[in-house]
Amino acid sequence: MKIRYAMRPTRFVPLILTATVAVLLQTQAQSSDNGWLNLTVIHTNDVHSRLDPANALGVACSADDIAQGNCYGGAARHKTLIQQLRQGKQHSLLLDGGDEFQGTLFYTYYKGNVTAEVMNDIGYDLTTVGNHEWDDGPSIAARFWANLKMPVVCANIDFSKNPELAKLVKPYHIFEDLGVAIIGYITPTTADISSPGPTVSFTNPIVAVQKYIDELQTNGIKRILALSHNGYAPDMELAAKTRGLDLIVGGHSHSYLGDPKNPLYQGPYPTVIKNLDGDNTLVVQAYCWGQFIGNLDVSFNAEGKIVAWNGAPVQVENTVAADPALAKKVDGWRNEFEAWAQTVLGHASDSFDLVGCRSRDCLMGNFVADAMLNYVRNKVTKPGRDNKHGKPSIQPWADITIVNSGGIRAGLPKGNVTVEQIITVAPFGSNVLQIPMEGQELLDSLDAVIAGRRNDTGKVVTSFIQVSGLRFGYDSTMRNSTGKHVLKVEIRDRNKKWRKISPHKTYSVVTTDFLLKGGDNIFLSLNRTGTIQHEKQDQVLVEMVKKVKVIRPFLDGRIRDVASTTAVKRAEEEARYATEWPAGMPEHMKRMYPLGTRQLRE
Ligand SMILES: *[C@@H]1O[C@H](CO)[C@@H](O)[C@H](O)[C@H]1NC(C)=O
Ligand SMILES: *[C@@H]1O[C@H](CO)[C@@H](O)[C@H](O)[C@H]1NC(C)=O
Ligand SMILES: *[C@@H]1O[C@H](CO)[C@@H](O)[C@H](O)[C@H]1NC(C)=O
Ligand SMILES: *[C@@H]1O[C@H](CO)[C@@H](O)[C@H](O)[C@H]1NC(C)=O
Ligand SMILES: *[C@@H]1O[C@H](CO)[C@@H](O)[C@H](O)[C@H]1NC(C)=O
Ligand SMILES: *[C@@H]1O[C@H](CO)[C@@H](O)[C@H](O)[C@H]1NC(C)=O
Repeated sequence: MKIRYAMRPTRFVPLILTATVAVLLQTQAQSSDNGWLNLTVIHTNDVHSRLDPANALGVACSADDIAQGNCYGGAARHKTLIQQLRQGKQHSLLLDGGDEFQGTLFYTYYKGNVTAEVMNDIGYDLTTVGNHEWDDGPSIAARFWANLKMPVVCANIDFSKNPELAKLVKPYHIFEDLGVAIIGYITPTTADISSPGPTVSFTNPIVAVQKYIDELQTNGIKRILALSHNGYAPDMELAAKTRGLDLIVGGHSHSYLGDPKNPLYQGPYPTVIKNLDGDNTLVVQAYCWGQFIGNLDVSFNAEGKIVAWNGAPVQVENTVAADPALAKKVDGWRNEFEAWAQTVLGHASDSFDLVGCRSRDCLMGNFVADAMLNYVRNKVTKPGRDNKHGKPSIQPWADITIVNSGGIRAGLPKGNVTVEQIITVAPFGSNVLQIPMEGQELLDSLDAVIAGRRNDTGKVVTSFIQVSGLRFGYDSTMRNSTGKHVLKVEIRDRNKKWRKISPHKTYSVVTTDFLLKGGDNIFLSLNRTGTIQHEKQDQVLVEMVKKVKVIRPFLDGRIRDVASTTAVKRAEEEARYATEWPAGMPEHMKRMYPLGTRQLRE
């Protein structure tokens, strides 16, 4: 596969100083105890159990990946690099923005037990709560937090009905020696996208964070940071709608901030937002999977405001030496499942990436959705009503598959496909189910996905979808409009003919238990007779790769954005790319910076 990120990381960018700040810093250099502080903030987020290095698609590196330098991160390299980054710095803090859980066999197998040990070994100073930390319920999350040697902060969870959890997570932590406080917060959608259970609820982070900023300021703390698991655009919104916050270290949206030439680019590092007082609030994040480590030097003045900064995310490349002791531990844990992990299931004729999965059909999406549909259609079950010819055949016909793009967690490289890769793609242990749904229900769900919100419950849809047996179009420039958002919705019948969906007809839909419980707010929570339970999603994918032996990536335009079908529109879109806001950026922020992210860079 093509090496996408061959560029060298920019380790040191020139210090951005205004004339006034430069003068202030000179004064600072002359007298050392006037209340100024220089701090290095080193940070990761959404590492998702990449204890071993992973390639650009997020799966374990092959020999080719290693030879070509397409192999990043890994706990043992993190340890070395973090030690190097801390060296010679007077004050540094190592922070993690949540979602250490899920993603590889290290999580599937050890359920967070080894995650805590790795974080303790690397020496994190603080972490927050990611939504995936709740995936196996509050007791697994609690065991993880109890095993951590660093504090866990999150200010917008109501723990009043769960005093045990309340002991493990606090709203903020004060690093007394530095006079620095850090407030945590998490996406308020957590109950819709994970399994935190009925004893906790998630509140508006802006309200919660401002409350604790005020409390800290009342107690004389001036240097106030936040550690977020709420995503880049909501972090910018929180920065703009609060006062008193110096820096937000983020996670959740897997945003690469930094070099605009990097194809992953979503914004500048740091992104500087004017807060309610007109002061700067910096926002940073460091992509995902441990591919980068964020590294930001900041200077606080005597009023606790950040007046100078310097930094860039550092790509964790092959060339970083692995810490031998930690590498040995990781290898030991890995040995437990290595033989199973390396089982070869089949072959990928080319690489499957995740490009476009959040706006159209994509290579991995088509693979996963088609595999689920074909699996269910060809599953041999006991003779039944539809088995008229007496053969050991199949069950109710399955019309379509709908899965959430957010549930497809990695791509697949060209070459052998292993059990480990498939579990990395579908790590959640979701069950595949088949359920009857009316055409109108399907139309409402498709509409909600495109509009970004269900028009009946008002809930925000938190993932795009990937489909099989179904095709439709939409116009991305009309997402904000009222009325219908999807065009030409068609379903492929048993004779392979595309037919317009009929609102009153009942279709058999293959999806996951996660979505049927209302996950991502795509469907209404559905529990109805006629639901057929199949195997787990990873098992379904394993079986399908074994069966077809060679899998081939392709796109067929089953979900197409008609706004970008013409070459002209596409060119315009590309030209806009560098200035575009990430999805969800609040309108008032766009008005504040009419030239887009470019203006934040300046
Ligand atoms: C703090 O950082 C600034 C900017 O890099 C530098 O000029 C100053 O000397 C540093 N102060 C201390 C006490 O290290
Ligand atoms: C994780 O640790 C707990 C507590 O020490 C233990 O009971 C459990 O068996 C461990 N689980 C695994 C999968 O290692
Ligand atoms: C792919 O798997 C086959 C069968 O297990 C094995 O013989 C071959 O060496 C593998 N190729 C690579 C590049 O690992
Ligand atoms: C939606 O946004 C587009 C441009 O992005 C604009 O042309 C259109 O008028 C908007 N529609 C509504 C209903 O606000
Ligand atoms: C929601 O949108 C769908 C699709 O456009 C429409 O059929 C339905 O009437 C709408 N429902 C409400 C409550 O507005
Ligand atoms: C679904 O409905 C059945 C029968 O109505 C009920 O027994 C079952 O507990 C329900 N399951 C869930 C998860 O609500």
